[in-house]
Amino acid sequence: MAFTKSLIALLPLFNLFLQSSAIAIVADSICPIPYIVPRAFSYFSDPTDEFLDEDDLPITVKLASPSAGHPQWISSMLLRTRPNIWTLEPYCMRSLEARQDICVYTSTWFAQGRGISFVAIPSEGPLVATAPVLKNQMTHQFDTWVNPENDQRIERVPIPNKGLGTLSRHHFERGDAAQSFTPVLCIQDGVMQMKLGSYEQNTTLNRGAANLPPKSRTLMLELHGQFGGNPVYDKVNTNAFNAAIGSSQQAYWSVYPETARYNHDCRPNTMYSIDERDLLHNLRVGRKIIPGEEITLSYLAPNMMSEERKQRIHAQWGFSCSCPSCTAPKDVKELSDYRIGMIETLETELNDLSLDRNASISTAEMLISLHQQERLDGVVGDAYMYAAFEHAYIGDKRGTQMNAALACEHMAIWRGTNHQYYQAMQRLLVNPEAERSWQYFARVKRGEVLPLG
Ligand SMILES: *[C@@H]1O[C@H](CO)[C@@H](O)[C@H](O)[C@H]1NC(C)=O
Ligand SMILES: *[C@@H]1O[C@H](CO)[C@@H](O)[C@H](O)[C@H]1NC(C)=O
Repeated sequence: MAFTKSLIALLPLFNLFLQSSAIAIVADSICPIPYIVPRAFSYFSDPTDEFLDEDDLPITVKLASPSAGHPQWISSMLLRTRPNIWTLEPYCMRSLEARQDICVYTSTWFAQGRGISFVAIPSEGPLVATAPVLKNQMTHQFDTWVNPENDQRIERVPIPNKGLGTLSRHHFERGDAAQSFTPVLCIQDGVMQMKLGSYEQNTTLNRGAANLPPKSRTLMLELHGQFGGNPVYDKVNTNAFNAAIGSSQQAYWSVYPETARYNHDCRPNTMYSIDERDLLHNLRVGRKIIPGEEITLSYLAPNMMSEERKQRIHAQWGFSCSCPSCTAPKDVKELSDYRIGMIETLETELNDLSLDRNASISTAEMLISLHQQERLDGVVGDAYMYAAFEHAYIGDKRGTQMNAALACEHMAIWRGTNHQYYQAMQRLLVNPEAERSWQYFARVKRGEVLPLG
């Protein structure tokens, strides 16, 4: 859902593994499918790969041959990836409309059998497969609250005027992990943007969803779609978050179906981030939640003006925004919009690193104050980050550390501790003098450091 916003029983599986090794498994392959490559592509492949003549190709590969009057063929030598982490034969077809090859990659084993499908151009397969959490899918240990099925701490109940929602049955403290989810379907942005024919879109996207294990497929297909057209495309378009995957430089529209069970609040009591390392959509508690209270998240960037927010919510999800910041009297909304506009102006000033910049410590302090006035406590970490930098620029060690510490505290909840901003703030807290920002402008003037940008 956040995509357009800013630009997520082991033993039986092992048995399966043993049964299916009719064809010898290549050493670093963890799947029952070895690297069998069409003979025609043998020049491209690894010496350990097995080769098959066209007639011996597995049945799923043949499916991509001409059918239903739509000429298609296997488009690429990159059907398989190394390591071969896919538990179903990758399926590729050529879009005649878009003049592009599109593949569907699925691992039904990922995240203890929850499964994951990717729809992407063929060259993306090997890049996606480098994500450690996919590469090590059989050994990767997720935390207790990842994809929880019977989480007694929450319940799904009807909420007045909001349909179903998620209620807390537990005392959550600030910073607690609420729930985390792995994505089930990830579609490359380039594929979402392609002008595919209806048949091509149905064939690739529907297969991405259909390949999932039944439970995940149902979760995916139960999602609300807002725009019509191909149902899978529609649900992805309505509900996806933007995630980076492995060494791919592409954006992926990633669906974390359970996140749709949390209702929107403009000032929510949880914050989420997507961890690039393990693909997890992590929901963390931003302020104390007591039993009986609804657990909410923000579908939109929190610092959005009231009218824009209202329109975006209506266009994207089809409900009317009922947060106080959408329904407040006109003068209250105007003041709030003024503050939000001011936040943007101040951030632009603070981002200016030219020698004739106007920003100073008081600019950053005002930014913090505006966040507090707007109850943007979730994202105030960025304001503390700006303040830490301003103190560092003038070489004020304690001021730098104090603000860096506050930035870390807030960012741990919002952005997660793997985020580069969190890590930059931690370095600034521990050893400000070692950072590039330390006395930055004075050192640029003396020619000791090169100016940034
Ligand atoms: C694709 O799927 C849509 C919706 O399910 C359907 O209306 C349409 O006829 C399908 N297109 C083709 C070419 O099969
Ligand atoms: C600094 O402020 C002055 C006065 O408001 C303005 O004219 C000038 O353009 C600003 N400088 C920068 C770099 O924004």
